[in-house]
Amino acid sequence: MSKIIFFISIMLLNSYLTEEAKLFMTNISGIQITKTLKAGENMGPNSAEQENLMFLGTREVEAATKSKMLYKTRSHRYLIDNQKHKEFDARKRWPQCKTIGEVYNEGNALLSWAYAHAGAFADRMCIATNGSYNQLLSTEELISCSGLTACSNGWLCNHTVVWDYFKTHGLVSGGKYNTNDGCQPSRIPPICNMPTKINNRTCDKYCYGNDTISYNHDHVKVSHYYNIRYNDIQNEVQTYGPVTVMFSLYDDFFLYKNGVYAQTENSKWLRYQYAKLIGWGVENGVDYWLLVNTWGNECGQNGLFKIKRGTNECAIEQFVYAGEPKIK
Ligand SMILES: *[C@@H]1O[C@H](CO)[C@@H](O)[C@H](O)[C@H]1NC(C)=O
Ligand SMILES: *[C@@H]1O[C@H](CO)[C@@H](O)[C@H](O)[C@H]1NC(C)=O
Ligand SMILES: *[C@@H]1O[C@H](CO)[C@@H](O)[C@H](O)[C@H]1NC(C)=O
Ligand SMILES: *[C@@H]1O[C@H](CO)[C@@H](O)[C@H](O)[C@H]1NC(C)=O
Ligand SMILES: *[C@@H]1O[C@H](CO)[C@@H](O)[C@H](O)[C@H]1NC(C)=O
Repeated sequence: MSKIIFFISIMLLNSYLTEEAKLFMTNISGIQITKTLKAGENMGPNSAEQENLMFLGTREVEAATKSKMLYKTRSHRYLIDNQKHKEFDARKRWPQCKTIGEVYNEGNALLSWAYAHAGAFADRMCIATNGSYNQLLSTEELISCSGLTACSNGWLCNHTVVWDYFKTHGLVSGGKYNTNDGCQPSRIPPICNMPTKINNRTCDKYCYGNDTISYNHDHVKVSHYYNIRYNDIQNEVQTYGPVTVMFSLYDDFFLYKNGVYAQTENSKWLRYQYAKLIGWGVENGVDYWLLVNTWGNECGQNGLFKIKRGTNECAIEQFVYAGEPKIK
């Protein structure tokens, strides 16, 4: 038995390392995955980044096979769209939702998880309500009150904790830094390369932004959340709105200005990064995903980026999550 498992692990590793592999791991029975995971855990601190990624991948599959994914009740709120669009941009599909193209300036490298999740949730609130709810959600409350932090290398160590927080606790409204928009606007200034540790966060349980809003009544929630497999990303986005993704950030990303990004051979792996996926298209024959990043002009990036689609570039197609807003 253990030989078989070992053999499977090797197969997994090999196929993972080939470009064609994509999301092969989502269709493998749970037990084998668990064993592969255990083997992975013994990897030393010197293991290559690719192996780290593979380790994350297997963990992920375990979670995915256990969860009841993509179970959604059809709601009149959504126009189910199963068409194959060659190009799609959520900003154009839902022009009434002004948050979709909104770029936060995270400053801090390890906070992208918060901006990407609050961003996708706000967009989905707007889409679900056809624009009646049309404002940013508070990254401040998420960062200062949830107790969640990136556990290492920028990633959360558990892909569903933020969506779970949106389900159990919810989030108040809150605009950008230096505004009084919403209940709890951001208090983290958009400075590039801020220190990675922000220790002096205080969690307030009242609205310090627009103080006519009631903190207790301002929270919005999701009814459920789920993992999205590669083949379902497009249907998900064109029906329900933007999703959160995690990807591997390499140093050549900072040279990126326009066009379709793909990691170059000698680039160095830096950490994991979260972003909001809002569409896709084809440019000069290359399929791409369109994403909103968490660095705006201040940080030398224009906020949006395109990354190669269909080959799990930087693992962009592997850790895709979303939730469905709970509308009263
Ligand atoms: C998973 O793989 C089995 C055989 O390996 C195949 O019969 C089945 O259709 C696959 N399921 C999906 C959802 O791809
Ligand atoms: C959604 O809102 C737009 C205006 O923003 C309106 O034209 C459209 O009819 C609304 N759709 C539904 C289904 O209510
Ligand atoms: C990840 O977080 C979810 C939601 O908080 C929790 O239900 C699940 O058990 C966690 N998974 C692991 C492996 O800790
Ligand atoms: C946290 O500390 C820094 C540096 O001391 C300060 O500039 C910043 O305003 C503080 N933030 C909060 C929310 O108190
Ligand atoms: C404050 O919130 C109230 C209630 O949501 C809203 O009517 C008002 O326009 C807001 N004020 C500002 C200055 O945004």
